[in-house]
Amino acid sequence: MVKITDKEFLEFVKYMNTNYGIDLSKKRVLIEGRLSSIIEKKGMSSFGQYLDSVKNNSKEEITMLVNKLTTNYTYFYREESHFDYLKEIVLPYEEENNKTRVLNIWSAGCSSGEEPYTIAMILDDYFKQGITWWKININATDISENVLEKAREGIYSADSIKRLPESYIKKYLIKLSDNKFQVTPEIKKYINFKVFNLMDPILEKNKYHIVFLRNVMIYFDPKTKINIVNKLYNAILSGGYLMIGHAETIQRDKSNFKYIKPAVYKKE
Ligand SMILES: C[S@@+](CC[C@H](N)C(=O)[O-])C[C@H]1O[C@@H](n2cnc3c(N)ncnc32)[C@H](O)[C@@H]1O
Repeated sequence: MVKITDKEFLEFVKYMNTNYGIDLSKKRVLIEGRLSSIIEKKGMSSFGQYLDSVKNNSKEEITMLVNKLTTNYTYFYREESHFDYLKEIVLPYEEENNKTRVLNIWSAGCSSGEEPYTIAMILDDYFKQGITWWKININATDISENVLEKAREGIYSADSIKRLPESYIKKYLIKLSDNKFQVTPEIKKYINFKVFNLMDPILEKNKYHIVFLRNVMIYFDPKTKINIVNKLYNAILSGGYLMIGHAETIQRDKSNFKYIKPAVYKKE
């Protein structure tokens, strides 16, 4: 196993933090454990050599590295209280008050697509035939092209869909052979999947009715976290919402979001 030296560790932590906001300062064992076999496979002998190659390397190489150090774990209908809130509070309000009939939603850090597909199913089920009066735009982004490929394909295991209501499974999924399920084209059409690194500037202003940023901030240091939250604040419409993971927090004195309830914040 290739060992990481103190100097290499500090350099690695700094590089990942500056470029990806990922805080690995307490993850020495994880870095060594997950990367040493890659380094050996590449015929390299040290972390320093590997980091140099990463710095000069293609996007795929860097994506692979980020994938190794983060987790893409997700499933349909995860943290369902957000979806209840959508059905019971947000959508009735929009139905009553949104005269433009446009709904912009962003699933930031969408991984392999289970989160944006769940949102699309909820909207379709809520508006029923009336959905044709609406222009639904679900922007689904992730730093990893690998997971986005899986998301676009939209094929999932029985285990991943087991929290979905039975009626959604019937309406929105096509059963394939070998106990796999594929999202219908009608649901796919609401969503646009693309690569986006949340460390990059966010150019959209006052656009989104809701942003889902769930289980993504776990990797970020406090400064990066609040920077991203504040960038998203500008991208959200007045009256819009930010949903974060239930295990995550926002420092309330450092952002203008109003706390509504656990993991739900509002721009007033
Ligand atoms: C655990 S998944 C969360 C998926 C989904 N939001 C959920 O709650 O189930 C975290 C995702 O965040 C993505 N991610 C990590 N750092 C990112 C960054 N800087 N920009 C965009 N996405 C990032 C990872 O690639 C991963 O797919």
